[in-house]
Amino acid sequence: MKQQITVTVNGVQHTSEVEPRLLLVHYLRDVLNLTGTHVGCDTSQCGACTVIMNESAVKSCTVLAVQADGAEITTIEGLAKDGQLHPLQEGFWEMHGLQCGFCTPGMIMTAYDLLQKNPNPTEEEIRHGLEGNLCRCTGYQNIVRSIQYAADKMRGAATAAGGE
Ligand code: FES
Ligand code: FES
Repeated sequence: MKQQITVTVNGVQHTSEVEPRLLLVHYLRDVLNLTGTHVGCDTSQCGACTVIMNESAVKSCTVLAVQADGAEITTIEGLAKDGQLHPLQEGFWEMHGLQCGFCTPGMIMTAYDLLQKNPNPTEEEIRHGLEGNLCRCTGYQNIVRSIQYAADKMRGAATAAGGE
């Protein structure tokens, strides 16, 4: 028996009929066609599926779509505004924070949550914040630098161009 849900995703309200067992990640990807949110595991370990739900990062493979009824969700597609990359997206670009990029949307959404709650994190705090997100190819050094870049920029202290 399908259930009706209304969810605001990246500022747009969607009303859908969904199976009660449908996971939020599959709702986003398969129903709303927002495929920037990735599925990297079946065990809620990798963090590739991370989105912001009501101002906190959640692994969307651990949330049922029906649990998101009435929620505000932000996905990676919701970060760029007016053709301008979000400072985190810019940071990953400038600081080479990715190789294959599969984990990147989840990394960015986790970092987004971290910087909302702590705009000036230490390297230690960034590494701690990323513990639930696995990157299988880069090591984390450039990811940390990307987040530091974004934190600086968001605090208005970025040295902008050049990056290095
Ligand atoms: S797909 Fe959700 S944690 Fe891996
Ligand atoms: S950039 Fe490939 S898994 Fe992270």
